[in-house]
Amino acid sequence: MIVAIDGPAASGKSTVAKEVAKRLGYKYIDTGAMYRAVTWKALKEKIDVTNEDAVVALAKGSQIEISELKNSHYKVTIDGEDVTEAIRSPKVSAAVSTVAKVPGVRTALVKKQRSYADIYPNMVVEGRDIGTVVFPDAELKVFLKASPVERAKRRYRELKEKGHKVELSAIERDIITRDKIDSTRAASPLLKAPDARVIDTTSKTISQVVQEIVNLAKKELMK
Ligand code: DC
Repeated sequence: MIVAIDGPAASGKSTVAKEVAKRLGYKYIDTGAMYRAVTWKALKEKIDVTNEDAVVALAKGSQIEISELKNSHYKVTIDGEDVTEAIRSPKVSAAVSTVAKVPGVRTALVKKQRSYADIYPNMVVEGRDIGTVVFPDAELKVFLKASPVERAKRRYRELKEKGHKVELSAIERDIITRDKIDSTRAASPLLKAPDARVIDTTSKTISQVVQEIVNLAKKELMK
């Protein structure tokens, strides 16, 4: 079974999706990490991220791997280089929407995401277009949402813990900007699939949300 989890930046997707995958014993795929890895590589190679041909070539030509280490910790590599931490930097976060809106980049990465389903029939896949574009036939689709203020607070705490120097107001601005780019882009905008279950995580704990999704998945499996 494929469990598609979509939602905006810092809606709690990653934490929840990893835990759901662990509880169900499913493979976990973080598609945002793939867009981030391509962005990281472009910045590293000093490629202008608005140069569409160059970023498409990068997305097509790069080998991206997401592998589980242990205890729901995942390693992300691009062409063999470990970028697990580097792809979460504010610089990558600020540039990733520009890269993710390029149709050719999306085509290349969606192809890779679909190819995982041939190897892993049971997956939890998180992103922005999983239920709408990548796996429109997913048996369970969940759309997570939370207020921009709550999402900014979550991202702030996360980055602070990692030692980044950040300002809450700047993060909130960045989240609102990214939401706008992600939801208004022409290629696969962030949209709720008509058959997705919406869960507002603003005032819920992670374990409550995880339990809700696991219950939905179990119900689906009993059908
Ligand atoms: O979930 P995240 O913040 O790590 O995602 C990083 C960026 O990638 C974000 O700007 C949206 C984009 N993205 C996308 O366009 N499609 C996906 N399936 C996943 C992420």
